[in-house]
Amino acid sequence: MLQELFGMTWWVRSVVPTMATNETSDRSQSTGERASSRSDGSDVSDAGVAHPLRSASVLVAGATGGLGAAIATEAARRGAELTLVGRDAARLEALDVEGHRVVADLRTPPACEHALDAAIDHVGRLDVVVNAVGVVAFGPIADLSVDVMEELFLTNTFVPILLARAALTRLSAGGAIVNLSGVIAEQNLPGMAAYGASKAAVRSFDEALAREARRAKLRVLDARPPHTETGLADRPLEGAAPRMPDGLAPAVVATVVCDALEAGTPDLASDAFPPGR
Ligand SMILES: NC(=O)c1ccc[n+]([C@@H]2O[C@H](COP(=O)([O-])OP(=O)(O)OC[C@H]3O[C@@H](n4cnc5c(N)ncnc54)[C@H](OP(=O)(O)O)[C@@H]3O)[C@@H](O)[C@H]2O)c1
Repeated sequence: MLQELFGMTWWVRSVVPTMATNETSDRSQSTGERASSRSDGSDVSDAGVAHPLRSASVLVAGATGGLGAAIATEAARRGAELTLVGRDAARLEALDVEGHRVVADLRTPPACEHALDAAIDHVGRLDVVVNAVGVVAFGPIADLSVDVMEELFLTNTFVPILLARAALTRLSAGGAIVNLSGVIAEQNLPGMAAYGASKAAVRSFDEALAREARRAKLRVLDARPPHTETGLADRPLEGAAPRMPDGLAPAVVATVVCDALEAGTPDLASDAFPPGR
């Protein structure tokens, strides 16, 4: 039955909205001060620290979100050439980050392929795909509508799978895929069962994908940040968020993720993120 439901919505979504949403737009690319080149061809920042993200082609999906925008900002600060993907053209345009804009709802395979191809068309290659797309819903499982459960898994689980599938054949050797599964993928909670399950599935997917991707010389980084103050919990598809302690600042999470990308860290468990803001 679920397969029927997914099949039906996939068909509707493939045919109807993506035709209208897959647009690209451009804004100037350069991100301020450039790197100086070293004799071995690698880049060096003004502080003399090698930044593997410098000049890397980085696509951020969910760039209009709290974590996506923070990661895009931090990657741009480190000199990456960005492709910013979001559903809403106005919100994308309003982002204070240089980069190529791609408007896409990523819930279908063609939409994911289109977004990645746009990055390659723009920069000439693709080195990193950061998936910061996500939705949340709260409440006991008996109260959660099936439509919302379906949307949680479509957006939180299938989008990462579809993006990764498209990325495997498009990323340059040495490239990386980052998924933000979240601390909930380590321990699920009552009132968040379906959301947590949709994210635990991503963590499980990443575990196997990392081994598959190794053959293509690609890395997969599963990042599991604790609760972060992005406003995600205030815009649930259904239900209301339980009281939560203060979360991390998005910029803190972005720094840890970008450091891990540059260091080649294979996994980012929740305890890799510093407590507090
Ligand atoms: N915030 C936390 O506490 C936390 C902790 C751990 C992990 N995470 C995970 O980190 C990711 C980002 O979370 P966030 O807090 O930054 O949430 P957010 O601020 O709500 O951002 C979510 C992003 O996903 C985009 N999106 C949603 N559905 C989409 C679709 N079908 N196609 C394309 N884009 C879509 C949104 O685009 P629009 O602007 O168009 O809505 C937005 O850019 C999520 O996967 C979340 O589960 C969050």
